[in-house]
Amino acid sequence: MGSAELIIDLDHLGHNFKVLRLASLNLPSFAVIKARSYGLGAVEIAKYFEKNFPVAELPLFCLARFEEVEVLRKAGVTRDCLVMSGSHSHELYENLSQRDHLCFSSLEDLQLFASRKTSKNIVKAHLHFNTGMNRLGLSPSLLENLPEVIQLLKSCSQKGMVFEGLMSHLACAEQERVKMSDFQLKSFDKIVSALKLSWPSILGAFPKWIHLENSEGVAHDVRSSNITAIRPGLHLWGIREDTSTPRAKYELKAVACVRGRVRQIHELKSGDGIGYGLSHICSKETRSATVNLGYADGLLRQAANSSKLGLFIDGKRAPFLGRISMDLCSVDVSEMSQVKVGDWAYWICAEQPLEKIATELQTITYEMQCSLGARLVPVYKGAS
Ligand SMILES: Cc1ncc(COP(=O)(O)O)c(C=O)c1O
Repeated sequence: MGSAELIIDLDHLGHNFKVLRLASLNLPSFAVIKARSYGLGAVEIAKYFEKNFPVAELPLFCLARFEEVEVLRKAGVTRDCLVMSGSHSHELYENLSQRDHLCFSSLEDLQLFASRKTSKNIVKAHLHFNTGMNRLGLSPSLLENLPEVIQLLKSCSQKGMVFEGLMSHLACAEQERVKMSDFQLKSFDKIVSALKLSWPSILGAFPKWIHLENSEGVAHDVRSSNITAIRPGLHLWGIREDTSTPRAKYELKAVACVRGRVRQIHELKSGDGIGYGLSHICSKETRSATVNLGYADGLLRQAANSSKLGLFIDGKRAPFLGRISMDLCSVDVSEMSQVKVGDWAYWICAEQPLEKIATELQTITYEMQCSLGARLVPVYKGAS
């Protein structure tokens, strides 16, 4: 009898994982489950994937920081994990296990590693190249002095670095096959080919994992024959960035649904006000439902000002009345005489998908979904 729930459909998650792989002609897929699986639960989602998809299909999970990997390990998750953007330190290197991979995104990262006192444990490295996003990544211009780079990689190798991957990240993948993605792919291909040509055997095997595509990269086939894995996040959850993003060529199924219970009903007269600041004054007799959903549950306050959004009860939209507060909001159920205390009112649902809300509130689905997990009780349904 929860007050509010975040329902997570694991069958839909499995469907989305499969269609993404199909779209990439069955390349292995890393699952990007950073930020607690974009708000849907770190451990539960990792365990679902681990149980339902073999290493050949899902070789590793992508996280942003090592702290996120530690949470998974403590909970018994054993699949390899790649730390994509967390800061480096000698202490971090010492704590990595053979199941942990680490992105090296700058010369400083590599130099720090080469200055390691010990080579006690092996560290699996993915070299991240900046192909135009200018957020993280080694500069491609480094390759103009390839012998020096190879020398640095040799020093790293002597301190226990094993080269597992080469990667880059797309800046504008959501736009329809834009020139920038083509440019980045070409630049990445050049880097991969140059390294392949001069990779000395002393560094061990050439990196197995060559990866670039996020979800929209997969949708727009930003891929070459060099690529050996995809790296999607958002589309796993069955959502696109916003409604302006062209539909993916595969069918996605929304994974998350948010609902809260009707807590109280009020029969109000014309002139009565509702909620903090009494910002809504009824202009006629109004039946209002107070619902267990507020901004602490990811119901953004700005939603109250939208004439298009509301909560859905029995498939019908109930518009917001007054301000959304931390734990509660009020909606107009004047036309829904059947609504009673204990009924479910839906915020994110088939009638009002995340993309629609994000577009209406001028934000993006990433931000909205990441904010869901703070307090809502997750309820996982479908295959476990
Ligand atoms: C480096 C990196 N790779 C892959 C992804 C997954 O991207 P998307 O969620 O758009 O599929 C992200 C997401 O932020 C990322 O930062």
